[in-house]
Amino acid sequence: MQKTTKHKLTLAVLAVSLLASSLFLGCAGGQLGKNNSGEYRNGMVVSASELASQVGVDILKKGGNAVDAAVAVQFALAVVYPNAGNIGGGGFMVYRSAKGESNTLDFREKAAAGAGRDMYLDATGNPIVDKSLYGQLAAGVPGSVAGMAEAHQKYGRLKWEELLAPAVRLAGSGFKLTARQARELNGLKARFKKLNPLGTALVKETTWTEGDVLVQTELSNTLKQIKEKGRNGFYEGAVADSIVAEMQRGGGIISKQDLANYKAVWRKPVTGNYRGYEVITMPPPSSGGIALVQLLKSVEPYPLQRWGFNSDSTVQLMVEAERRVYADRAAHLGDPDFYPVPQNKLIEDAYIKQRMSTFNWQKASTSAEINAGEIAPTEHEETTHFSIVDRDGNAVSITTTLNGSYGAAVVVKGAGFLLNNEMDDFSVKPGAPNMYGLVGGEANAIAPGKRMLSSMTPAILAKDGQLFMVVGTPGGSTIITSVFQTILNVIDFNQSMQSAVNAKKIHHQWLPDQVDVEEKALDSLTTVKLKAKGYKIVPRGPIGRVDAILKTKWGYYQGGADPRGDDKAIGW
Ligand code: GLY
Repeated sequence: MQKTTKHKLTLAVLAVSLLASSLFLGCAGGQLGKNNSGEYRNGMVVSASELASQVGVDILKKGGNAVDAAVAVQFALAVVYPNAGNIGGGGFMVYRSAKGESNTLDFREKAAAGAGRDMYLDATGNPIVDKSLYGQLAAGVPGSVAGMAEAHQKYGRLKWEELLAPAVRLAGSGFKLTARQARELNGLKARFKKLNPLGTALVKETTWTEGDVLVQTELSNTLKQIKEKGRNGFYEGAVADSIVAEMQRGGGIISKQDLANYKAVWRKPVTGNYRGYEVITMPPPSSGGIALVQLLKSVEPYPLQRWGFNSDSTVQLMVEAERRVYADRAAHLGDPDFYPVPQNKLIEDAYIKQRMSTFNWQKASTSAEINAGEIAPTEHEETTHFSIVDRDGNAVSITTTLNGSYGAAVVVKGAGFLLNNEMDDFSVKPGAPNMYGLVGGEANAIAPGKRMLSSMTPAILAKDGQLFMVVGTPGGSTIITSVFQTILNVIDFNQSMQSAVNAKKIHHQWLPDQVDVEEKALDSLTTVKLKAKGYKIVPRGPIGRVDAILKTKWGYYQGGADPRGDDKAIGW
C-alpha cells in the first residue's frame, strides 16, 4: 500500500515537472521557443525561399542579429531565388533597433554616367520596344553588394565571411529547384539562350524538373570574391572586369568608374501614425513610403472596422485614396538627390484631408478629374521581400529587386549573376506615352547617376515603443497597395499575420482608371454595388507576395509567408 502511494507520488511529481519545464521552455513538440499556436519567441525570418529563410535563422541561432541574418539572406536569395534575389540589382532596407531607433538604407541601382534621357528612344523620339527591358543596356549600376557591406559595417555583429558562407555553398554545391522555378526557367529558356550566347547555368538543354539541382559555379566564385574582399570583391577586380566585358559584348554602358563610384546611402525614414501605430518606412527614391503613409492617413478618419473587410464602402474608400495617391506619385516623386520631392507636404494632414474631400460616395471619381497630368511608369511585378526579427527585438525589412523576373535576362559571363533591368523604372520619355501606353513625369526622367523611382515599401510598425509588425512585398506598382491592405487587415480587421497575408487584394493606381481585383477578393453583391457607382472592375491574377512578421501582445512572433509563392516563415 505504502509502495503504491509512493509510486503515485513519483508519477505526480514527474508530471508536474514535465508540465513546468514545457511551460518554462514555451514549447510544443519539444521545440525551444515555440508555443502551441506556432508562434516563436526568439526570432523569425520570412522570405520567398525556405532555403534562404533557414540560412537567416541559422545565423540568428549563432548569435547573429537581424542585420547579420539579412545580409546572409540577401546573398542566399541571389543563389536560390534568382528571379529577384540578387547581387546584380538593388533595394531598400528599413531597420528598427530593439531600443526603438530607426534608419533606412538606400541601395537602389543608379543610371550609369553615360546614361541620357533619350537613350531608349528611336530617331523619331519614340520608345524602342524592349530596349529598357532586356539586354545589357537595361541595367542600372547594381547596389546590393554595397548595401549589404554598408549595413554590416554599421550594425553587424558576426564576421562578414560567416554571412557569405551559406550563399557560396548553395551556389557551388547546388540546390534543388522547386516546381515553380523549374517551370519558370523552362519558360525563359529561349530568351536566356538569345541573350547569353556564351552559355549560362540557368539553361538546361533538356527540361528542368522539380528537384533538379542547379549548380552555379561562376556565381559561387563571385560570392567567394565578395566574401574575401567585401564590396571591393564586386565593384573592383575580376568581377568588375567581367561586368564591363559583358557591357561591351551587348551594348551596355556601365563602366569601371560607375562601379567604383557606387555608394549606398543612409536616409531618414518616412514616418507616420495610423490609429496609434507608428509606421516607419522608406523615403524617396522609393515612392512606397510616402504613398503608404498617404493611404493610411486618407482612410484613418473612417470606420473601416464597422464597415468590414472588403465591403463596398471599404473598397470604395481604398480605391479613391489610391487614385489620389498614385496621381501624386506620378507628378511629384523621383530621386531626391536630383528633384525637389515635396516630401513633407505630401504627408501633411491638411493636404490629405483636402485631397480626400473631393470624392462622392454616390459615384466613382474619374482619374481624369483628379489630375490630367503625368502618370507613373509601369513596373514589373517581380521583386522580393524578406522580414527578420532577432532575439533582442531588432527588426529588418528589406525589399530587393532585379525589376523584371530574372532582370535583364543577362547573366554576366564569368561572374554568374543576373543583371537588373531597373532602367525601365525611369520614365523612358517624360511627358509622352511610354512603351506601355503610359507617360511619366520630369521627376523620374533619366539622368546620369540618378536613381530610378521605385514602389518598394519595406515597413516596420511599432506601438507604444514596442515592435509590432515587419512587412513588405514584391509586386511593382501593387507593392504599395498590398502593404497598405495587409496593415489594415491586421489593425482594422483583426486578422492574424498569416490571414492578412493570404487575404485577397484589390488595386487601383489612378491610371488606368480601373479596380484590379484578385479572384474571390470581392463577393458578387459588392461587385454589383461598385459597378453601379461607375467603378470598372477588372479581375486579375495574384496581387502581391507579402512576407511579414507580427509581434503578439505575449511577445511571440507570428509569421505570414505568402502562399502565392514558395515563401516560408521559420522561427526559433
Ligand atoms: N522594380 C520595382 C520597383 O522598384 O518598384
